[in-house]
Amino acid sequence: MASSQYTLPPLPYAYDALEPIISQQIMQIHHQKHHQTYVTNLNNALASQASAMQAQDIPALLALQQNIKFNAGGHINHSLFWKNLSPPASPATDINASAPNLKKSIDERWGSLDAFMDAFKKTLLALQGSGWGWLVVRAPGQGGASGKRLEIVTTKDQDPVDSKDGTPVFGVDMWEHAYYLQYFNNKAAYVDGMWKVINWAVAEERFKNGIETSSLLKL
Ligand SMILES: [Fe+2]
Repeated sequence: MASSQYTLPPLPYAYDALEPIISQQIMQIHHQKHHQTYVTNLNNALASQASAMQAQDIPALLALQQNIKFNAGGHINHSLFWKNLSPPASPATDINASAPNLKKSIDERWGSLDAFMDAFKKTLLALQGSGWGWLVVRAPGQGGASGKRLEIVTTKDQDPVDSKDGTPVFGVDMWEHAYYLQYFNNKAAYVDGMWKVINWAVAEERFKNGIETSSLLKL
């Protein structure tokens, strides 16, 4: 069965645009090698799945499930991540100007932006092994809250945020490939630097209207 191929989405900025927070070297390897590999492996797994379906090979289909989940998750997570970053000192990194509604909800939820940042950092640094840290928003009624509710969650490996846990507002890649060449084992410095490159305009948009679907798994 012929199938369309997923492709690597271009970065919305130059490879060196996030310096000095994230080096050009990291961005190039992360995007061109790591993200590309998730896309390539996803396409291969989907092709194998199509063959297995045609052959009605159930054991093969079951064996492919984790492969598809891992690589599709990697494609989704990185596509979201690139978009929720912005060059340091660019207008989108100003939360007050770019995300007034989200800022208000963060203040209500954690008491202050600083308290939120501290909680986010603690949660991400407690993540064992590879994974992601996310600010998510839960719809009214989801999780028992009466209104929209912000939460900090982590996902393991390349698991995407489960929709029952909320909608991603922004994510931070906590795999070593995201920081090790520049920060070595100093994960705290990497997370601290993130606040200078979070794209609050994208975060505000996701907070209000959900994640953009243009770069996700729709062909
Ligand atoms: Fe990554």
